[in-house]
Amino acid sequence: MQRCPHRNIENELSIFQRRKWLNFDHEELTIMEALDKLNDLIDESDPDVDMPNIIHAFQTAERIRMDHPDEDWFHLVGLVHDLGKVCTCEN
Ligand SMILES: [Fe+2]
Repeated sequence: MQRCPHRNIENELSIFQRRKWLNFDHEELTIMEALDKLNDLIDESDPDVDMPNIIHAFQTAERIRMDHPDEDWFHLVGLVHDLGKVCTCEN
């Protein structure tokens, strides 16, 4: 049985990214500092978001707050749900 060559490339890319990011030694930021970095990021891979990602983060949190006012943990999840995208920002 022949394996798909793209699978090997995906595995190598995955291993590379894990080694790069899972040491957690790039930068230490507060949540607000990380959110501020999203001011510089427009995620072109997300067709629903054509604004800086920090605006998307606050809009998401606010929308959840309107629909679920008593679920404060849920508001926080909405605020930070895309925070991992900070890894794509240049230092
Ligand atoms: Fe999002």
